[in-house]
Amino acid sequence: MRLMSKCERFIYGPRKIKVISPEMVRDEKITRLSKLIRREELKQLPILKRMDAMIRSKEIGFMVEGVPRHAAYQSTKPDIMVKALSDTVNLRRVVILPDKINFCDWGAGMGSSGLAAHEYLKYLVKIGIISDFHVTGFELNDKFNAITEKIAGKMEMKQVSIINRDFTTLTRDELKPFNLIYIWRPFLEDFGPVMNKVLPRIRSGSYIMARDCWEANVLEDTSLFTKIFHPVYYIYGTKISLYRRTEKEAPQEGK
Ligand SMILES: C[S@@+](CC[C@H](N)C(=O)[O-])C[C@H]1O[C@@H](n2cnc3c(N)ncnc32)[C@H](O)[C@@H]1O
Repeated sequence: MRLMSKCERFIYGPRKIKVISPEMVRDEKITRLSKLIRREELKQLPILKRMDAMIRSKEIGFMVEGVPRHAAYQSTKPDIMVKALSDTVNLRRVVILPDKINFCDWGAGMGSSGLAAHEYLKYLVKIGIISDFHVTGFELNDKFNAITEKIAGKMEMKQVSIINRDFTTLTRDELKPFNLIYIWRPFLEDFGPVMNKVLPRIRSGSYIMARDCWEANVLEDTSLFTKIFHPVYYIYGTKISLYRRTEKEAPQEGK
C-alpha cells in the first residue's frame, strides 16, 4: 500500500478516513471507454488528430434564441474524471456526499465525462460509499447524443439519460434533483454573463465541479457559492475546482 504524502495527510487526516484510490483509472472498462470515445471523436472531429486543444468549430456550433454560439469541444478524459471524482470523495471531512448522487453534465459532448462518472459512481455503490446514483447529460448536438447513447449501450451503462436541451434554460425546479454538476466551459460567447444567471438557480447544498469556468465570477465573488477545494485535479494547465451552493437565496431573475 502506498504511504500518504505530507500534503495528503493534511487533507485526509491521519488514516481516519479510508482513502479511496482512483484504481478505477486502471480499470479495463475505463480504458475501453476512453478508446471508444476517442475513436468517435476522431471520426466526428478529425482536427483533434493534430491538436488536442479546445476546438471552436462552426460545425458544432448552435443557435440560442437566434444568437449563434460556438460550442467549445474538448473532452474530459475518462481517467481525469475518475481522478477528480475520487479526489472529491476523499475529501469526506469537508464534503458531505449525498447518499444518492444525481450527477449532471452541462454540455455532455460525446459522453466522455458523464460515462466515466457513471462507472466511478457505480464503483462507489459497489464499495458502499453511496447507495444509488444517476447520470444525466444535457447536450445540444444530436450527433453527439447518438454517440453517447451508442457507447452507453455497448458498455451496458444503464443509469444514464441523455437529453437534447440547452442547459442554460433549465429552471430552478428542473435543476432541483441534481446534487453534483459538472461544467467545462461548454460555449464561448457570453459565457460569463450567461453562467452568472444560470448558476444561482442551482439548489442549495449541491456541488459543482467547474473546469475552466473562470469567467463565471458568481462562483468566486458572491456568497452564493463556497469554494471547497482547488484544484481537485491539475493537468494540462487547467484545474477542476469544487464549489458548494450555499443556503443563500439567489436574487430573482429579471429584477
Ligand atoms: C467542452 S465540451 C465538454 C464535453 C464534456 N462535458 C466533457 O467534459 O467531456 C462542451 C459541449 O457542450 C455542448 N454545449 C454547449 N453549450 C450548450 C448548451 N447551452 N446546452 C447544452 N449543451 C451545450 C457543446 O455542444 C459541446 O459538445
